[in-house]
Amino acid sequence: MSLKERIEAAEAEIALAQATTTDAVEAFRVAMLGRNGKVTALLDELKLVPPEEKRLWGQRLNQLKNAARTRWEELKAAAEAGTASLAGTAVDVTRPALAEPSGSLHPISIVRQRITDIFARIGYTVSQGPEVEDDRHNFGALNFPPEHPARDMQDTFFVDGPGELALRTHTSSVQVRVMESGKPPFRTISPGRVYRNEAISARAHCMFHQVEGLYVDKGVSFAELKGTLDHFAKSMFGPEVKIRLRPSYFPFTEPSAEVDMSCTICGGKGCTVCKHSGWVEIMGCGMVDPAVLANCGIDPEEYSGFAFGMGVERIAQLLYRVPDLRLYWENDVRFLNQFSDGAFRG
Ligand code: DAH
Repeated sequence: MSLKERIEAAEAEIALAQATTTDAVEAFRVAMLGRNGKVTALLDELKLVPPEEKRLWGQRLNQLKNAARTRWEELKAAAEAGTASLAGTAVDVTRPALAEPSGSLHPISIVRQRITDIFARIGYTVSQGPEVEDDRHNFGALNFPPEHPARDMQDTFFVDGPGELALRTHTSSVQVRVMESGKPPFRTISPGRVYRNEAISARAHCMFHQVEGLYVDKGVSFAELKGTLDHFAKSMFGPEVKIRLRPSYFPFTEPSAEVDMSCTICGGKGCTVCKHSGWVEIMGCGMVDPAVLANCGIDPEEYSGFAFGMGVERIAQLLYRVPDLRLYWENDVRFLNQFSDGAFRG
């Protein structure tokens, strides 16, 4: 930097200098006018300039020194009078801070949290299991026969090979882990990520989230299952919502059912989401098969239970009316921003 540039930089620094305490004022004086101060050093350079320029630079440097003195006196007077303030200066620290843009919970996290809260209020704990799961927990103990198509290479991402470790295809595997880990009663939900070897489209993905529910005790009935799921649907979607159970089949429940909910998009009148039926499927459920209880070391003569499993993306789609599953994975901030206060503003 030339002498001129260095003088200008020092001038700017002096003009912007702030000090609200006498210590800070003294520090300013030392930094500028002290023996090793910036202004002192610049004054020293006067002896290096050619004789014909001495007068010009001498005046310029004198101005600089006076500016430093004047600023120091101003700061000193204000600090001693107790009127020193940073308000109205180049850096106005009294101005309200600009709001920092903040991130937000992902819609899937919001929905998972709401599901968890609804069940927590009626006594369900949260339990978890591994995403890389062995055959017994994902299939065997849940009564999947060895030749069951769900074990097929087409559906399951195997880590080693069929019959070995795999990415869990459902959170029902956590049921098994819970039941073998202790004694009933169990009342727990298991939220988590699951994987299936599917082509990605608007309606399917190779990874998604489920929440599994399990209740095992003496004398648990199908009526309690239905009451629990009705309570869930109304808490999640509103009191006007109805559910219906259709007989179905799962290897690990007997009897089994699929749960439909009155379509929240059209109010049951019929629309493209419910395919003009007025109903949308939201989960599978059933009474835990006695063989599954026995596989986990629980006496089916003494205990009974129910289980259910729902897709978090499915619930989120119905709640937020998001048509395409892929949006949940693309992390486009224009999509995610709309959930910043937990509500969708689409
Ligand atoms: N595991 C099933 C699935 O991934 C969902 C399910 C159905 C879970 C019925 C259950 C149940 O606990 O009882 O499609």
